[in-house]
Amino acid sequence: MNLINNEALLPFDLVLFGATGDLSVRKLIPSLYFRDREGQLPEDSRIIGAARSDYDTAAFRAWLNTEAKAHIPDDQFEEAVWDGFLARIEYLRLDATSQADYAKLGEMLAGRESHVRVFYLSVAPSLFGAITDGVHEAGLITPSSRVTLEKPLGRDEKTANEINDRLAAVFKESQIFRIDHYLGKETVQNLLALRFGNALFEPLWRAELIDDVQITIAEDLGVDGRGAFYDQTGAMRDMVQNHLLQLLVIIAMEPPVSINADAVRDEKIKVLRALKPLKGVDAIRNSVRGRYTAGAYASGPVPGYLDNETIPDDSVTETFVALRAEIESWRWAGVPFYLRTGKRLPSKRTEIIVNFKRVPHEIFPTAAGPATPNQLVIRLQPEESIRMRIYVKAWGDDIQLQPVSLNLDFNDVFRKRRMIAYERLLMDIIRGNQTLFMRRDEVTEAWRWIDPIHAAWEQYEYSPVPYEAGTWGPVEANALMSRDGLKWHED
Ligand code: BG6
Repeated sequence: MNLINNEALLPFDLVLFGATGDLSVRKLIPSLYFRDREGQLPEDSRIIGAARSDYDTAAFRAWLNTEAKAHIPDDQFEEAVWDGFLARIEYLRLDATSQADYAKLGEMLAGRESHVRVFYLSVAPSLFGAITDGVHEAGLITPSSRVTLEKPLGRDEKTANEINDRLAAVFKESQIFRIDHYLGKETVQNLLALRFGNALFEPLWRAELIDDVQITIAEDLGVDGRGAFYDQTGAMRDMVQNHLLQLLVIIAMEPPVSINADAVRDEKIKVLRALKPLKGVDAIRNSVRGRYTAGAYASGPVPGYLDNETIPDDSVTETFVALRAEIESWRWAGVPFYLRTGKRLPSKRTEIIVNFKRVPHEIFPTAAGPATPNQLVIRLQPEESIRMRIYVKAWGDDIQLQPVSLNLDFNDVFRKRRMIAYERLLMDIIRGNQTLFMRRDEVTEAWRWIDPIHAAWEQYEYSPVPYEAGTWGPVEANALMSRDGLKWHED
């Protein structure tokens, strides 16, 4: 399936606002290096780093040479490619609120109007408006310009609308690329391939045959150096509104008529609209909000969230969320979707579990085998794999059913480097392919579902419940499942 078109890129100028930030150094610069190594970046294409730090181009390159290079594994580092790549990079010291600085950017871009121009906003959302207005007023937005924004897009529907309105004042929707980097992950795209490239799953993919779906994004890391940002955000805004809901939508969407950007996004939005609203006591009953306390891993003890000196003592920010969601549609009526995400859980793991229903009539005596139903486990992280649990008769002279796993490990199948999610997304931005980006209405609908849950938490003064770092979250998250007679998948 041709999810991503492979057409060659046109020469581009990528202006990277926030070029000295964490995302730039850890992901964006290494991703561009890898694409250069693959020979994908056209001649005469440049990356212009723009930030407040007092560098010139030579100093910025030298800085990248230590900071960004450290995020490229040694066995994939090629000196000559890196040197050629650095030669594409220029730097502009820029204050996002200074129009004179946009004029300087204009000088750097002058005469290159036919190049694809990407304004990548890897900055705090409070600067989005200043930058889009700045490039607009300096006359830098050409017909082949695009703007890219990182989440979080606002704190709720209202603030997201304000950002989107401001963007829409200077860019067309077809020029706006709202990133959810989970959509750049291979396995997320493989979900589309699995569902819509095989005839096998579609007839099974419905309430008649699926009992429940669980989606977990677990991280062992804490908030560490990101405390100030995180405390304003919390797990619901940082992970659920975007990554978790995007995974849910891709699992639940109807088959699109084509892989074209709007065809896919039209189907995705229908799922968001069909999510049963969680309001008031219903939101409290179907959500769990947690916050880690000090705990220990094999590597040693770790402090609790409130022990972080950047976090105020009276913080009520959650680092864990579990939700029980339902989709009100013919396909999914009555199937619970359990969503869970948290920091300082036992390990980094992202997986989707589809639990099928039991056979309608057991012909094997119960003693012959366990009655746990078929299960599809789609793992995105740490490794990418798809496992299907089925039952077979164990060899022997009696009928003993035994679960076995059909395993598909993408590492074994493809035996090549797994791309960083941003590599694909960056290339798509330059190509102008919006399939893997969030359209404005998707962002709005996601907030419309999230906002009432936040409102209920506030109304009922539901503060996060504690869980020890290194465990799977508060016991309340288990209760959310056990009340339906279910358990989280944790092996
Ligand atoms: C980011 C969140 O969007 O995703 C982080 O802001 C989180 O808090 C990260 O750690 C997880 O991404 P990944 O790709 O490492 O699973």
